[in-house]
Amino acid sequence: MSNRSILPMALVTLLIAPGCALAADPFVGKDHYQHHCAQCHGLEGKAGLPRGPDFTRKSDPGNGLMRSDSVLLTRIRQGGIGCPSFRGVLDDLQILDVVSFLRSMKR
Ligand code: HEC
Repeated sequence: MSNRSILPMALVTLLIAPGCALAADPFVGKDHYQHHCAQCHGLEGKAGLPRGPDFTRKSDPGNGLMRSDSVLLTRIRQGGIGCPSFRGVLDDLQILDVVSFLRSMKR
């Protein structure tokens, strides 16, 4: 391959790579979820906690999943009454990874 065709390809890779790194990844999110959330919310997202949300029922008001990613990000960062704060534990992108995993959970 000549240098002429390598250069544009390298440029395209440079342009695409940072974009990929910014997209929330549900597979990475699953790892974080298993580490930080599953002990309360259950591996399947429907632990029998009192007032605990069921993440497999996406439209339930209790699980908050019908809100935007940024609202959920803030909520998970802050924590709730029974839900701990994840500020300083997971960074924003890691939380968004978890949010994308929550949205992918099946019944
Ligand atoms: C110590 C147990 C515990 C852990 C660990 C935990 N949660 Fe929770 N979570 C709860 C309980 C209890 C509730 C319901 C009461 C409340 O909202 O605080 C809840 C509620 C939620 C809600 C619903 C919020 C809403 O406004 O409707 C979301 C979303 C959530 N948790 C996400 C997470 C994520 C993501 C993690 C891991 C990064 C996590 N939780 C870790 C116990 C926990």
